[in-house]
Amino acid sequence: MTDQNPLGLKKIHHIEFYVGNAKQAEFYYRNAFGFSRVAYAGLETGHREMTSYVMSQNRIKFVLSTPMNENNYAAEHIRKHGDGVRDIAFLVEDADHAYNEAIKRGAESASEPSDQKDKHGSVRHAAVRTYGDTIHSFISYNTNNGHNYSGPFLPGFAEQDVEGDEVGVVLIDHIVGNVELGKMNHWCDYYRDVMGFERYITFDDKDISTEYSALMSIVMSDGGHNIKFPINEPAEGKGGKSQIQEYIDYYKSAGVQHVALLCKDVMFTVQKLQDNGVEFLRVPDTYYEELNDRVGPIDEDIDELKRLGILVDRDDEGYLLQIFTKPVEDRPTVFYEILQRKGCKGFGKGNFKALFVSIEEEQRRRGNL
Ligand code: FE2
Repeated sequence: MTDQNPLGLKKIHHIEFYVGNAKQAEFYYRNAFGFSRVAYAGLETGHREMTSYVMSQNRIKFVLSTPMNENNYAAEHIRKHGDGVRDIAFLVEDADHAYNEAIKRGAESASEPSDQKDKHGSVRHAAVRTYGDTIHSFISYNTNNGHNYSGPFLPGFAEQDVEGDEVGVVLIDHIVGNVELGKMNHWCDYYRDVMGFERYITFDDKDISTEYSALMSIVMSDGGHNIKFPINEPAEGKGGKSQIQEYIDYYKSAGVQHVALLCKDVMFTVQKLQDNGVEFLRVPDTYYEELNDRVGPIDEDIDELKRLGILVDRDDEGYLLQIFTKPVEDRPTVFYEILQRKGCKGFGKGNFKALFVSIEEEQRRRGNL
């Protein structure tokens, strides 16, 4: 708990999605993305309100939750937003401190500090609101006779062991929020003032505008650069609708646009995801003709990159390889980025143009341009 990290954030503990049918979402994340189901809470474990599956792959944990009653808040969230991210939960040193400090610094409460217990011990939980209906939970482990919480996930969850066939994603690299026109600075200030984050990189509409899909983006990051939250807002295109505005029109508010999953061997991971049926955006083949001139020598075979549709960008420290899925729900909202970093700390600015041309093509097919 320093000036740089006033809330005592340690890392992202998990992301919780509210979904219409968690049982089917579990199947998708296990069979398409290779997550293993490691814990469960539902009717069989005495939970009458909510059913949740905990999906794990290396250091990534997703919770897929569905309400069992129409008067549960999650039902309202899904009615409004469709499937989407409800909670970006942090592991913190002390949930009470994180919560109190966040409130003092201007955050709005979502849930006051409380104990969550079961036979494996207890954790302390609290939550504050961020953009749209998204929240940040703060979780700290209470020591129990000197031991941390020893259950499979959090109190109330029963252990499960349904293995997925790993695709090789390792950790959450960044989580992008789309916010309303004119609100980007407000939410960047929120992460600066409440969480002690700093501006990591700024992109303006010169970097990332095509005829239609203009956007502005600022990447906010914690002092250690372990947690990176780019915030996008729509910018005026030349008469068409920004992809950020399309998201907001369908998500019905600000919310999480994409989660970027870091992998060690992007060729392996993308091949596997494609074999499993995950759909990716493709850029025109001419992209690969210009690639060598743009990024210089790379270890990978350009024909293989082209076959898989993987994009490359370089900064002064190295290069990165990245690819984006199509939205993973019917509404054009949340999608995934798969990336591998070879020294590069950027976000693929050099790919924005090519990418946005293909995003616009998708928007046009949806009648939303
Ligand atoms: Fe990204």
